[in-house]
Amino acid sequence: MYDIIKYIKRIKFSLFKNMDKLKIATLLGSLRKDSFNKSLLNYVMEISKDTLDISIIDINLPLFNEDMESNPTDSVLKLRNTIKDSDGVLIITPEYNYSIPGLLKNAIDWGSRPYTENVFSKKPMGLIGASSGAMGTVRSQSHIRQVCTFLNAFVMNKPEVLITFSKDKFDNNNKLIDSKTKDIIDEFVNNFEKWVKAINQIKDLI
Ligand SMILES: Cc1cc2nc3c(=O)[nH]c(=O)nc-3n(C[C@H](O)[C@H](O)[C@H](O)COP(=O)(O)O)c2cc1C
Repeated sequence: MYDIIKYIKRIKFSLFKNMDKLKIATLLGSLRKDSFNKSLLNYVMEISKDTLDISIIDINLPLFNEDMESNPTDSVLKLRNTIKDSDGVLIITPEYNYSIPGLLKNAIDWGSRPYTENVFSKKPMGLIGASSGAMGTVRSQSHIRQVCTFLNAFVMNKPEVLITFSKDKFDNNNKLIDSKTKDIIDEFVNNFEKWVKAINQIKDLI
């Protein structure tokens, strides 16, 4: 009898465990198998497993075509629904040619349309990036912020996570090993949780 009660309690706990977690829809701007940005996402997931329920959206989507807006593919619908159902959006991306990788911009464009159904509107958003260069995705991130102004997404400002010379920050298994980078991501995750809660509390007033 005691075992049954324990069993029921355990099921109840695992059923409700996810309810307190914030649902975060993630757009990862690299499809590369050994992507450093994917490794960053893995680190974020590891340190936030008790507080964030992170889903990674497949952004391997058809090229945006306005003619298809009213008849989108299942993959586009999935992107739209995952973002709509989320408490917040996290973008983790490299910089391509001083700007936003095309596949990420394509996914953002799909999520932003039709115009009246822009799924990013009033979503709290966080931004992280790693690149092999000395500028650590600063240009890519500033372009995303510009895009987000039109999307009416609320991008957290600080801390900025601009990871430079990414090869030096990971080991041979692509595991994050740099302690300063870990510290800034820890701070980012901590602030992002607060940001998501705060924006969701006020978003209907603005
Ligand atoms: C098409 C392309 C353009 C790139 N442009 C830049 C750039 O403008 N600035 C930069 O720092 N790195 C640039 N890189 C290098 C990327 O930072 C590097 O490949 C990075 O590791 C990609 O992220 P990932 O490891 O998550 O795939 C570029 C790479 C590619 C493939």
